[in-house]
Amino acid sequence: MHFAPRNNWMNDPNGLVFHDGLYHLYFQYNPQGVEHANLSWGHATSADLLRWTEHDPAILWDDTAQIYSGSVVVDHGNTSGFGTDQDPALVALYTAAAPGRQAQALAYSTDGGYVWTKYDGNPVLDRGTSDFRDPKVFRYDDGGDGYWVMVAVEAEDRQVLFHRSDDLTTWTFLSSYGPAGPVGGVWECPDMFPLAVDGDDDDVRWVLLISLNPGGIAGGSGTHYVVGDFDGTAFRASVPHPAPPRELLRDGSQSRDELERYGWIDFGPDCYAGVTFDGLARDERTLIAWMDNWEYAGRIPGGDSDEHRSAMTLPRRLSLTRDEVGAERLRQHPAVDLDPGESIDLAGVTGSVVLAEGVAGAARVGFTATFGDAQSVELHIESASDDGRVVIRQDRTSGRIELVRSGERMPLGFHRSPSMRLDRPREVGWDLWIDDLNERVSSIELFAQNGERVLTALVPVASPRTYTVAAIGGTLHGARADVAERGC
Ligand code: FRU
Repeated sequence: MHFAPRNNWMNDPNGLVFHDGLYHLYFQYNPQGVEHANLSWGHATSADLLRWTEHDPAILWDDTAQIYSGSVVVDHGNTSGFGTDQDPALVALYTAAAPGRQAQALAYSTDGGYVWTKYDGNPVLDRGTSDFRDPKVFRYDDGGDGYWVMVAVEAEDRQVLFHRSDDLTTWTFLSSYGPAGPVGGVWECPDMFPLAVDGDDDDVRWVLLISLNPGGIAGGSGTHYVVGDFDGTAFRASVPHPAPPRELLRDGSQSRDELERYGWIDFGPDCYAGVTFDGLARDERTLIAWMDNWEYAGRIPGGDSDEHRSAMTLPRRLSLTRDEVGAERLRQHPAVDLDPGESIDLAGVTGSVVLAEGVAGAARVGFTATFGDAQSVELHIESASDDGRVVIRQDRTSGRIELVRSGERMPLGFHRSPSMRLDRPREVGWDLWIDDLNERVSSIELFAQNGERVLTALVPVASPRTYTVAAIGGTLHGARADVAERGC
């Protein structure tokens, strides 16, 4: 269900593009080993975002540079001249990363995204700096011919830079955003796109995504979003975040209270460098992120073969909604489907109820209820084969959902318990997706409050798993649950 390469090191998703009926996923990849080295772009395709086929690596590192993160566009109109009007080239903009120097470079493909040629005029955008990276390019419609816009970061400066181009090879500076909001780590992998608020095409806002590491809301790597306007030149946040004091950029810590005031696409520790597909309609905007955290990436215990494995998040469909106090909030729902299992009526439940026992492989757990006089509700996920367990708890007083993951052999940083605050803490509405990462570790993605709060975490719980719900200190009303198994 989740994309994972056959072997070797993987990090960020790159070059997400939908073209000719296929979703292309490129990714940061070491073709030769399990360390973050020899960075190249791996490649996979899917027709349904559920089953992926891995291909040969697409763009390989060379003596001059590693191939860091970036994006792909289909050059309709052949503005670059690398394709034809009938047969547009796919054009990749990526960061050519050399020691002390990062600049944006271009490669193109005329066979639909499999074989790539590095442009001989590279780099196409060089500021002479060491941390300028992660270009995300999109076509901006200005009501006329339109032009290409690139968002990229000066990572250490906590700035997103906007450039424009007519042909993808010559870029001119437009504006910058930041530092603002969360700045406790370097800014990486920006993305920006328009979404209609509550589906209203007359009320379109722009969403700017900024990954930062460390300084995320769950510790380590995290991804912040800001909603605002883009006029073709500059981005302006609806609610501007104050510029931080300079010293914050050096010593880096912001309080949890402050971080809670900002937008986060995910409140868990294992959702990083998420970017969206080019080539889909506005109401189909879909994100994939790397399901890991730089704090412990590469140190998650392996499976029986002990081969390193890492995975991407589920593809997530994004939308915008306006909440009761008028703030625009991002919503996410899995872009893949797994029919809910048979509904289990838990009317008047007190104490605990086993929902399903010994379930092997991927599953989706739905759970809805309203609090009676219960203090909290819990979902326990336990492994039948080892001592790993995870508890997810929604507590009425704190108004939060918390995930507690415990287990031996887990690296430092893994023991923190991520949590997220709810607007309506008496309502339980969970859509939880779980899958195997390897024989010891699983992934959980919890969509709550109709997708407005999402929490992604790797957990030390092996398959097969048993799912139990418990009402603590009283009763729940109208409680229902279901467990759908995918068994892969
Ligand atoms: C984010 C990142 C990017 C960079 C890539 C290198 O995880 O650090 O900024 O391009 O990974 O692999």
